[in-house]
Amino acid sequence: MILVFGSINMDLVASVAAIPRPGETVLSPGYRTLFGGKGANQAVAAARMGGRVAMIGRVGGDAFGQACRANLAANGVDTGAIVTATEPTGCAFITVDAAGENAITVASGANGAVEASDLPDREIGPGTLAVMQMEVPPKASLAAARKVKAAGGRVLWNLAPAPAGLSEAALRDILATTDIFVVNEIEALMAARALGGATDIEAAGQLVARRGGMVCVVTAGASGAFACLPDGTVRHTPAPPVTPVDTTGAGDTFVGVLASELGSPADLGSRADLDAALRRACAAASMACLATGAQDGMPDRQQLDAWLSR
Ligand code: RIB
Ligand code: NA
Repeated sequence: MILVFGSINMDLVASVAAIPRPGETVLSPGYRTLFGGKGANQAVAAARMGGRVAMIGRVGGDAFGQACRANLAANGVDTGAIVTATEPTGCAFITVDAAGENAITVASGANGAVEASDLPDREIGPGTLAVMQMEVPPKASLAAARKVKAAGGRVLWNLAPAPAGLSEAALRDILATTDIFVVNEIEALMAARALGGATDIEAAGQLVARRGGMVCVVTAGASGAFACLPDGTVRHTPAPPVTPVDTTGAGDTFVGVLASELGSPADLGSRADLDAALRRACAAASMACLATGAQDGMPDRQQLDAWLSR
């Protein structure tokens, strides 16, 4: 079973010709209210692949919170453990430019109140794959990850967004609980900096994989993904080319699909299974770029299969 421990947001999305620079004001014809939050997005991406997925997190007792809960449930995600907080539901202010690139400000709200105890002990065991990101307090995620490891489960950690000034000690704590680590190019370099530094993303991934003693996957947008193994080898998976409409949620789609494909404990040990999972995660992430918003373009299992066999 997949347990996503993380953020739930409402995304307010405005399209602009170009993302404003500091001090600049730009006009957009309007905005859309779309479901988001890295945790919730990953849960939806995994659930659309089939299998049991539960979301652990907090929303406010407001209309956004109700809508976010209902959306997760409609996507087949178990919402029974989601806590209603006194803080408002997390909100992300997103501008998307003509090339589909985005800039995001997250107002954390209820996500900032998430605690490790939100993860019920009855939910975790050897069959658990917990998925962590960085939009809820890292202290809570770390304690939750330790609970999962102690119960014999596994942890996928997505260092997104990577905090500025990440310390070596903080990263080592995270890596010590992690079975598979997923970062984008910027996050890979930030993680490597905490461990002494690397000049390019492959070297960064290799450094993290070696120090952590686990697989470090670096996602590289249109260039696909690089899986860096602790023995120093790097395996590249290309992404099917697309003309992006909105890249928001592509990374979350990658993580959710990867988690779903690596759902059984044997899969992490086999390179063939890892390669197959990476191929599906890259393809799903490409598909997610073809629609506005984080979740609209996420494929279900049939759509992904059909797209892969085009
Ligand atoms: O990764 C995309 C997500 O980041 C958005 O849905 C937004 O909520 C922010 O958390
Ligand atoms: Na998208």
